[in-house]
Amino acid sequence: MANSRLSYYFLLSFVVALAIGLLCEAIDDDEERKVFIVYMGSLPEDKGYKAKSHHIRMLQALGKDKITGTMEETLVRSYTRSFNGFVARLTSREARKLENMEEVVSVFESRLYHTQTTKSWDYLGFSQDVLRNPPVESDIIIGSIDSGITPESESFSDQGLDNIPMKWKGVCEGGKNFTCNKKLIGAKSYTQESARDYSGHGTHTASTAAGREVPNTSFFGLANGTARGAVPGARIAAYKVCNLESCEGQAMLAAFDDAIADGVDIITISIGIGVPSNLSIDVISIGSFHAMEKGILTVQSGGNNGNDGLGSVTSIAPWLFTVAASSIDIKIINKLVLRNQHTLISTALNSFPTSINNISLVYGRIISSNCSESDARKCNPECVDPSLVKGKIVVCDALDDSGAMTVVTESGAAGVILSIRTNNSASFNVPLPSALLYDSDFSYVLSYLNSTRFPLARITKSEIVPLEKAPAVADFSGRGPNKILPQIFKPDITAPGIDILAAYSPFSGLSDYTDDDKRRSKFSIISGTSMACPHVAGAAAYLKSMHPLWSPSAIKSALMTTATPMNVSYNVDSELGYGAGQIDPLKALHPGLVYETFVHDYINMFCSLGSEGDKLLKIFRIKKSCPKGNLTSLKDLNYPSMVAPVDKDSAFNIQFSRIVKNVGRLPNSTYHAQITTGDSAIHVSVEPSILSFTQFRETKSFVLTVSGQWLNQDHISCSLVWSDGTYRVRSPILLYRNSIV
Ligand SMILES: *[C@@H]1O[C@H](CO)[C@@H](O)[C@H](O)[C@H]1NC(C)=O
Ligand SMILES: *[C@@H]1O[C@H](CO)[C@@H](O)[C@H](O)[C@H]1NC(C)=O
Ligand SMILES: *[C@@H]1O[C@H](CO)[C@@H](O)[C@H](O)[C@H]1NC(C)=O
Ligand SMILES: *[C@@H]1O[C@H](CO)[C@@H](O)[C@H](O)[C@H]1NC(C)=O
Ligand SMILES: *[C@@H]1O[C@H](CO)[C@@H](O)[C@H](O)[C@H]1NC(C)=O
Ligand SMILES: *[C@@H]1O[C@H](CO)[C@@H](O)[C@H](O)[C@H]1NC(C)=O
Ligand SMILES: *[C@@H]1O[C@H](CO)[C@@H](O)[C@H](O)[C@H]1NC(C)=O
Ligand SMILES: *[C@@H]1O[C@H](CO)[C@@H](O)[C@H](O)[C@H]1NC(C)=O
Ligand SMILES: *[C@@H]1O[C@H](CO)[C@@H](O)[C@H](O)[C@H]1NC(C)=O
Ligand SMILES: *[C@@H]1O[C@H](CO)[C@@H](O)[C@H](O)[C@H]1NC(C)=O
Ligand SMILES: *[C@@H]1O[C@H](CO)[C@@H](O)[C@H](O)[C@H]1NC(C)=O
Repeated sequence: MANSRLSYYFLLSFVVALAIGLLCEAIDDDEERKVFIVYMGSLPEDKGYKAKSHHIRMLQALGKDKITGTMEETLVRSYTRSFNGFVARLTSREARKLENMEEVVSVFESRLYHTQTTKSWDYLGFSQDVLRNPPVESDIIIGSIDSGITPESESFSDQGLDNIPMKWKGVCEGGKNFTCNKKLIGAKSYTQESARDYSGHGTHTASTAAGREVPNTSFFGLANGTARGAVPGARIAAYKVCNLESCEGQAMLAAFDDAIADGVDIITISIGIGVPSNLSIDVISIGSFHAMEKGILTVQSGGNNGNDGLGSVTSIAPWLFTVAASSIDIKIINKLVLRNQHTLISTALNSFPTSINNISLVYGRIISSNCSESDARKCNPECVDPSLVKGKIVVCDALDDSGAMTVVTESGAAGVILSIRTNNSASFNVPLPSALLYDSDFSYVLSYLNSTRFPLARITKSEIVPLEKAPAVADFSGRGPNKILPQIFKPDITAPGIDILAAYSPFSGLSDYTDDDKRRSKFSIISGTSMACPHVAGAAAYLKSMHPLWSPSAIKSALMTTATPMNVSYNVDSELGYGAGQIDPLKALHPGLVYETFVHDYINMFCSLGSEGDKLLKIFRIKKSCPKGNLTSLKDLNYPSMVAPVDKDSAFNIQFSRIVKNVGRLPNSTYHAQITTGDSAIHVSVEPSILSFTQFRETKSFVLTVSGQWLNQDHISCSLVWSDGTYRVRSPILLYRNSIV
């Protein structure tokens, strides 16, 4: 989904969160009940255990006078398949009472989350005819937790597919007039609606990950080619948790509960929340932990708050695979050509059939019979008089996301010229012929208007032009560092997320600005970390089809250590923007070595997290008590990258312990450490610096030391490459000044 829409959504969710915070202060018996998640950790081993009756008994124990309404109204749902817990409408006092019950781990409010191609796969070097493992690929199931799906889309045709994998335990309960097939094998809705996708988001993401090959697709002639996912032979299960406005936390956790038990292999979730939040209250962190325990990798979008600056990435947990969005080597633009032949470049995705030519420009009082000059210039509501703008291009001194777009669309004008906030890498789908211009170009139009009596212009249809500085991280893509766990590197990786063509819902309007756009399409071009996420989920599924026994962390490691670092001259936030770099699915097939992390490693990590760690241990029903003495610190989690915050003006010496496993083609191999450092004042060393393997799956440990004197930089990039002459296993090492966030 495009950035302007999303920033609005994220803003909204933040306001809602604040309001909730305030309401909680006032405890009152008459207070309105809110939806709480009562989390009870793992399910008991006891086969006779009846989770739902247990939940009802717990609610009854609150006292009859407390629970007004029927049990059906109070108990919203139970989690019974992959972990234990329930959702109920409660007052804060009842929530607190439940929290004190022995069997309850945590009680937290269900918050609202929000949703955040074709050529893109070729750009990644992943062509249509890559080597595949068809029988295994067709056994892979991708769980898409999103806004539903469009079962009729050609991207989900099951032509030529074999029977549904035996391991599938899910259902097809899409609602009326919704049929699954051998491609779309499952569908379930956790909202009031059917599993059908009315927004287009879920259809788009699922088809990017695993859509069939659909030749000759385009968006009104733009970006024509074959639309396809990474694993056209794999199956899709759609879990609908979002309606048009938002996605409820309690519904998302229910989707995880089912997806894990249904037997999916990879979960893709292009949903997030406005600000980074503690793991213990984040349903995606909790659900994906249980998934990881069962060998399922969860891939999540890093969020679209990049314009808020560093520390804006909202996918935090180390077991999640967090994806940033970047460009490919093309860009969608259109042009505004003024009568004086001056041409200005616009970022409107203008898909109307033809250019509009030789049209009068109108600005200010002349478009309004009612409003002041300044209101008319901004195209404020009720200031654009339809009879005065008919057949004209209206110039508004307003930002594209200010509402002026809607006002002008409703007026029936022929076109509009607006300014745009940032050099946004993405184009915006407009509801009428438009030019969206950066500051200086917009000022040029104003001075042109001022200097000519009969201003005329042409607005062209969009076209695709090469983008030289590519790949470039999108300005909207959430930036590191990780505000909650500073020594866990986020985002992990980047993938294409700008102007991606993929399947769409024919029920959804196409414009990023208004629902007034009556055009419909089975494919659309949209942007966001939401679109980058399924590229990585698809690549992960591809790796799984070639290496069925690899653990989730091995898949993640393979994709990270083989990623292509990006050019920092136009990606100035370096790893804080792109993580380990751009995915290269084919290289990831042969990583040589992998960094693996297992449940017990995360448990050791929790031990070093203080009270939040205690909560997490409780959440995951981990009985193990933390070791006394030295704890595994966050930086020593066996992550494929290394990151450390450093104090300004101080000398430092940081050690990272790591273990690598030999997954190369030969049992015998010798790897040498190669170091690059981004600053002569920083010294990096590795002990031992040579690792010799004699067996498959053998592991070796090493310690990497970074030392030096911190000067004034915001961040410094170094790297470690283990090379045996064939494979290069690259880990970025990022140091950043503590005070940058
Ligand atoms: C069922 O779905 C198909 C495909 O979208 C549509 O053409 C048809 O009108 C729908 N029928 C009903 C009863 O909604
Ligand atoms: C592609 O689609 C266009 C328009 O829908 C059509 O004219 C053309 O024949 C198609 N080409 C192929 C190869 O199917
Ligand atoms: C895309 O469309 C252009 C213009 O119609 C055409 O020249 C080109 O061959 C098409 N490309 C593909 C892959 O169909
Ligand atoms: C452009 O429009 C003006 C006035 O509307 C008209 O006089 C002129 O002939 C037009 N020029 C072209 C090239 O169509
Ligand atoms: C003029 O303003 C009034 C009230 O402010 C509004 O109802 C009316 O639609 C406006 N007229 C036009 C032409 O915009
Ligand atoms: C937008 O990009 C242009 C050219 O790359 C640059 O000169 C200008 O400073 C940028 N503006 C903003 C607001 O980033
Ligand atoms: C328009 O022209 C007038 C008179 O030449 C000048 O005072 C004003 O600043 C100009 N406005 C713009 C936006 O260029
Ligand atoms: C990085 O980009 C700059 C500026 O476009 C270019 O001069 C340089 O060659 C690029 N570096 C690499 C390694 O591609
Ligand atoms: C997050 O966890 C930290 C550390 O335990 C704690 O201080 C903070 O209050 C928590 N924040 C929220 C919003 O729960
Ligand atoms: C704990 O770690 C510190 C620093 O690494 C070391 O000096 C100390 O001996 C360790 N203590 C134990 C009990 O291992
Ligand atoms: C691997 O190395 C061991 C010890 O150096 C040697 O005995 C063995 O023959 C080697 N195996 C292969 C396949 O090269």
